[in-house]
Amino acid sequence: MRVTIRAPRAEDEGAYAEAVRRSAEHIGRWNPVEPDALPDLLERQGPGLQTFLIVDLETGGLVGKVNVANIVMGRFCNGSLGYDSYLPFAGTGRMTEGMRLVLDRCFAGQPEGGLGLHRLEINVQPDNGRSIALAKRLGFRHEGFTPRMLFLQGAWRDHERFALTAEEWPGSAAVDDRG
Ligand SMILES: CC(C)(COP(=O)(O)OP(=O)(O)OC[C@H]1O[C@@H](n2cnc3c(N)ncnc32)[C@H](O)[C@@H]1OP(=O)(O)O)[C@@H](O)C(=O)NCCC(=O)NCCS
Repeated sequence: MRVTIRAPRAEDEGAYAEAVRRSAEHIGRWNPVEPDALPDLLERQGPGLQTFLIVDLETGGLVGKVNVANIVMGRFCNGSLGYDSYLPFAGTGRMTEGMRLVLDRCFAGQPEGGLGLHRLEINVQPDNGRSIALAKRLGFRHEGFTPRMLFLQGAWRDHERFALTAEEWPGSAAVDDRG
């Protein structure tokens, strides 16, 4: 294991801005990210949005960021994943390792410090091959096609929808005890 995950904090602001700026070309086309937006992201953390940073264990460098957004509990227990990886770690497999840890945390029950989710969704633009590869590598199923789903780079963009439920995630106790 080369990475760990943790919540972002105010001290990460500088390193985060540098990582996003350094990686602008790599992430920009797909997921426009504002380098100086960490304080705003920290303020928005709450029951509907939980962010994880993936950190390289050897150097402490930022490998990537994962937003678990649109979290709805009750009978849905669902969240949507958004993510980006940063240079020089992109393409080294560390993002995939970190995502596995995030999924463990998402599907773990709340008493165990997890988010207690039952279903996770990833929505990807059809020609974003690296993101589709990541979703498939993690075992996400292709569920369907959602036309004009998100407003990105000046237009409503179609997305392919992938999903995974707790029953499909190795090691997770399937969530069947919420009455
Ligand atoms: C999508 C994204 C997060 C994927 O991240 P990544 O950095 O490619 O993720 P990883 O490094 O874990 O990917 C593994 C790749 O590294 C390679 N790799 C190299 N060394 C590896 C190792 N030791 N172990 C595993 N994989 C390794 C794998 O072969 C794989 O390449 P492949 O997909 O060509 O087969 C990244 O491309 C990104 O930030 N894109 C822009 C933003 C974006 O699209 N966000 C998602 C919107 S839906």
